[in-house]
Amino acid sequence: MTPTQPTRLDAAHFDSKARQWDDNPVFRERGLKIAEAVRKAVPLHRQMNALDYGCGTGLLSFPLKDELGAILLADSSRGMLEVVAEKIAAQGVNNMTPVKLDLLSDPPPAQRFDLIATAMTLHHVPDTNHILRIFHDLLQPGGYLCIADLDREDGSFHGPEVDVHHGFDRAELGRRTEQAGFADMQFQTVFSITKERESGSRDYPVFLMTARRVGA
Ligand SMILES: C[S@@+](CC[C@H](N)C(=O)[O-])C[C@H]1O[C@@H](n2cnc3c(N)ncnc32)[C@H](O)[C@@H]1O
Repeated sequence: MTPTQPTRLDAAHFDSKARQWDDNPVFRERGLKIAEAVRKAVPLHRQMNALDYGCGTGLLSFPLKDELGAILLADSSRGMLEVVAEKIAAQGVNNMTPVKLDLLSDPPPAQRFDLIATAMTLHHVPDTNHILRIFHDLLQPGGYLCIADLDREDGSFHGPEVDVHHGFDRAELGRRTEQAGFADMQFQTVFSITKERESGSRDYPVFLMTARRVGA
């Protein structure tokens, strides 16, 4: 039998997951832990314009909403954005705006940001160097980039049928981030996801990389 080709998890996949996303306590705790680490690493303030890229249901930026100015929540999945919009309305939040956006195919927003944060999304974006350059161009000089994602793994996190990056080697991602025009790259482990495998349980660490845009 010919092995099936791995496929990307597209917007339709995330649409189908959106309604149940916040029911997962691991996803909720992961968002809280990443937010806590962002809060410690970046001097947040109410004048800061932020972009949460690949926001999903907003599990990263809802915990930070009272410490930031305007927050643009961008995702390519309409289903995720519907859930975000409902949460914003239910909580009466006035500084969060959901937008359907895939920075690899859509025109970038006209505004510039003081902070771009992205959680568990980079491994879904095929061209890492390209998205890093786009993040660079969307940030104000001195602006902060916060990327949370999986450390390099063997592909077992998603399984062989899924076409994603198998996490990231920290040193290599740091070099690529520097090449895209950033400095002050710092890495820390912020969370660990445990999955049960045939061979026993397996931990997949999640890092947070913080960096600053240099130059004008
Ligand atoms: C694993 S989920 C993480 C969601 C959320 N950040 C969290 O931590 O719960 C990845 C998210 O990235 C979005 N995504 C994947 N590729 C994207 C792209 N090219 N542009 C924008 N969003 C994308 C998906 O729709 C999904 O909501």
